[in-house]
Amino acid sequence: MSKAIKKIGVMTSGGDSPGMNAAIRSVARTCAFHEIECVGIYRGYEGMIEGDFKDLTARNVKGIINKGGTVLKSARSDEFRTVEGRKQAHHSLVEKEIDGLVVIGGDGTFTGALIFNKEFDFPVMGIPGTIDNDIFGTSHTLGYDTALNTVVESIDKIRDTASSHNRLFFVEVMGRDVGHIALNVGIGAGAEEILIPEEDLGLDRLLESLRRSKKSGKSSSIVVVAEGDKIGKNVFELKDYVEENMSEYEVRVSVLGHMQRGGSPSCFDRVLASRMGVKAVEGLLDGESNYMVGLLNDKIALTPLEKAVKGKSKINKELIRVSDIMTT
Ligand code: F6P
Repeated sequence: MSKAIKKIGVMTSGGDSPGMNAAIRSVARTCAFHEIECVGIYRGYEGMIEGDFKDLTARNVKGIINKGGTVLKSARSDEFRTVEGRKQAHHSLVEKEIDGLVVIGGDGTFTGALIFNKEFDFPVMGIPGTIDNDIFGTSHTLGYDTALNTVVESIDKIRDTASSHNRLFFVEVMGRDVGHIALNVGIGAGAEEILIPEEDLGLDRLLESLRRSKKSGKSSSIVVVAEGDKIGKNVFELKDYVEENMSEYEVRVSVLGHMQRGGSPSCFDRVLASRMGVKAVEGLLDGESNYMVGLLNDKIALTPLEKAVKGKSKINKELIRVSDIMTT
């Protein structure tokens, strides 16, 4: 029988995402509900090593459910990659009498948690927090839904000016090395073409598609490009390439960048965060460890952390077919 957990630490790590604060709030309130203590760990593994902690109560997490970013800050820690660093982190947790850990982040965060568990037999649960939605074991990572809505709104604004000037825009979106954001916002914003790393469209087919758009009478076009796309040219080089090969187009570029990570979380992400926080804490209290909390067929489910880290999130082929049809 595992030792009853009395005090749970919660931290955020890796790229921040909208919904992380809602998850922190849920972890703290679920601890209060079960009459155990909760400790916020600042700056991920870096703050864990330094013992940079703050007691969290049901009351002092009020007013953050609607805030983007993370009140616990986030950082990437090289020191935690060393045995010495992890030993110091463990010492800090033991000194604070923390005996369970909820880590909110991406695959890098989970990898660190797995190693920590193996070295110190320390109970850990993961909550997938990243706008990329590139984690195996969940249909939605925290922040993904908010990012989709943020990006669609931005592309709608770009389309206003594109159509006013009869221009072609290449819009680069985040997603690291997957195309979930690009594919969904491309469909949602009615883009004429979507370039994602999972599909190699190729430069000839891009030109052919743009010629077809022009011939069909479209005076302006939007091409959404996932930052991890492998067409072999970045968006600025694509602009030059199209201008060299299709003088009929006036081309501009918009790289959306880090604004995709900000903003007040959508209701979907707030509810998802609240559900995941409850499951993560109650999983630890039930003696579970080394799982990631995910959403599968709209049910909160646990996936072994090892599988979440090793697994790959697949692009939805049905969505690719829809996007092909929509660009007819
Ligand atoms: O993983 C989230 C993410 O926003 C990716 O989409 C992006 O490529 C990366 O983080 C940017 O990392 P940083 O914030 O360190 O520049």
